[in-house]
Amino acid sequence: MEDLSLHILDIVENSIRAKAKNITIRLTENAKTDLLVLTISDDGEGMDEAHVKRSTDPFFTTKSEKKTGLGLAFLTQSVEEAEGSMDLTSAPGRGTTVTARFKRSHINRKPLGDLEETVRCLKATHPDVHFSFKHVVHEE
Ligand SMILES: Nc1ncnc2c1ncn2[C@@H]1O[C@H](COP(=O)(O)OP(=O)(O)OP(=O)(O)O)[C@@H](O)[C@H]1O
Ligand SMILES: [Mg+2]
Repeated sequence: MEDLSLHILDIVENSIRAKAKNITIRLTENAKTDLLVLTISDDGEGMDEAHVKRSTDPFFTTKSEKKTGLGLAFLTQSVEEAEGSMDLTSAPGRGTTVTARFKRSHINRKPLGDLEETVRCLKATHPDVHFSFKHVVHEE
């Protein structure tokens, strides 16, 4: 995955597959803590504990047409390349939140990509879903 925008497309696709109606995308950059935090929350079907545990396994998917599930595995990899960490919280019927933390200045931290265009594209292709997007930069 070249940039964080492509990860966002991928993770949001999971939310849409889980029948989410509201998807929140937050990107917070903090110069002081040198952190970049991406949070994607949805109000879709959610997962039970066992499902959450398996979800980052590249050979786990609930898509019937394929044998690999790479979206979360790739995000985990990108996070690890930038000395970060990932959290996934979910509950059946409650939705899912994916939090990816990166060391902002890390040489291997992926660039943001075209965030505005990505969100515009998501809104245009999923008019029935409500998207909320916020990008905040704390420069000091
Ligand atoms: N937001 C979500 N809500 C409910 N289930 C999810 C969510 N995100 C992931 N999952 C579950 O975790 C599995 C793995 O997700 P992942 O994105 O890694 O792979 P995938 O979507 O199956 O395939 P790929 O991303 O490669 O097209 C999914 O198949 C689905 O069962
Ligand atoms: Mg996926």
